[in-house]
Amino acid sequence: MTYSICLIPGDGVGQEVIPAAAEVLRATGLPIEFGWADAGWACFERSGDALPTATVEAIQACGVAMFGATQSPMSKVAGYRSPILALRKTFDLYANIRPTRSLPVPSARQGLDFVIVRENTEGLYAGRERREGDTAIAERVITRRASERIVRVACELAMRRSLPLPLGEGRGEGLPPSAVSRRLTLVHKANVLGITDGLFREAARAVAAEYPDLKVDELLVDAAAMWLVKAPERFDVLVTTNLFGDILSDLAAGLVGGLGVAPSANIGPEVAVFEPVHGSAPDIAGQGVANPVGAILSAAMLLDHLGERPAAERVNRAVERTVAAGICTPDLGGKATTREVTASIISHLQSSSL
Ligand code: NAI
Ligand code: MG
Repeated sequence: MTYSICLIPGDGVGQEVIPAAAEVLRATGLPIEFGWADAGWACFERSGDALPTATVEAIQACGVAMFGATQSPMSKVAGYRSPILALRKTFDLYANIRPTRSLPVPSARQGLDFVIVRENTEGLYAGRERREGDTAIAERVITRRASERIVRVACELAMRRSLPLPLGEGRGEGLPPSAVSRRLTLVHKANVLGITDGLFREAARAVAAEYPDLKVDELLVDAAAMWLVKAPERFDVLVTTNLFGDILSDLAAGLVGGLGVAPSANIGPEVAVFEPVHGSAPDIAGQGVANPVGAILSAAMLLDHLGERPAAERVNRAVERTVAAGICTPDLGGKATTREVTASIISHLQSSSL
């Protein structure tokens, strides 16, 4: 059987990191065929459409896609809508999975291995914004259905993660596994947003109660931000609403080396789209120094999703060995280019010692 993966580089550094991730996927030796598809601001300027129907159809046909990043204008442009937001809606990609794992680089906090599970379809991203004269209003939509299903994903993930982790040396270093595993933290702001986050909390607690082996706790989002900085090693799986998850996951990326290394998955009932957390990085685009690690770790998540867990683990280890050897792009304090980092990861992947 051959896997089909749709590749959508998009704008800016997406054009550099997605081809790098594709090379790494190819180097796994798995039978994979790639289809390339277009989306983003340059695509919009060229064709008047930021997410052409052909791209949507290609993703649908493959079932899995890698997405780079797209550039969005700061103020509204008629006809333009962020393609990744449109994809999340089109394919109901309701679960955004954002792992944070320490890499052996000086700029990363060590011993971290947690996942933020972000609701990906509603909240303040529901797209219900309006202007009434000098008042601007955004509606925050929370439903029981979306809250329940995202918390179920988080619970299942927490249960799965409690199995011995291949790269789990980090999580809770020095503590017995039972002290650190099977933990779920519900993050919300139900004290102020009593109705919306009140519903999220109610739905979340009901679902979590179906998992008696999970240790469940709760944090208000502001306190969660503080604890993520002060004692991030205490976390295992966090689940939260859309905007809170967006913000906290960028904060989490900052703990382990920055946006250049953070991977993510957007999972729906039929389709899954994997993307580095970062954007198009116009400040460094075109210079050949974008960090491909976020995209390559996203490719590893894709392999895991396809059931190719051993290959996913090999990619993770190849990344670790590369950065441990100091072969890093400037954002991690190194001098290597995107190509050099990618080549090193591939050579580790192909060496028998991995
Ligand atoms: P950004 O993530 O593009 O860049 C933030 C900072 O991180 C910059 O200093 C950049 O150089 C650095 N950075 C990002 N990716 C990197 C990489 N692979 N290697 C090394 N350094 C990296 O976020 P920013 O500047 O807020 O947004 C730029 C554009 O990207 C905007 O148009 C925004 O709308 C878009 N964006 C798109 C996203 C997506 O397509 N999913 C997500 C976030 C932003
Ligand atoms: Mg973001």
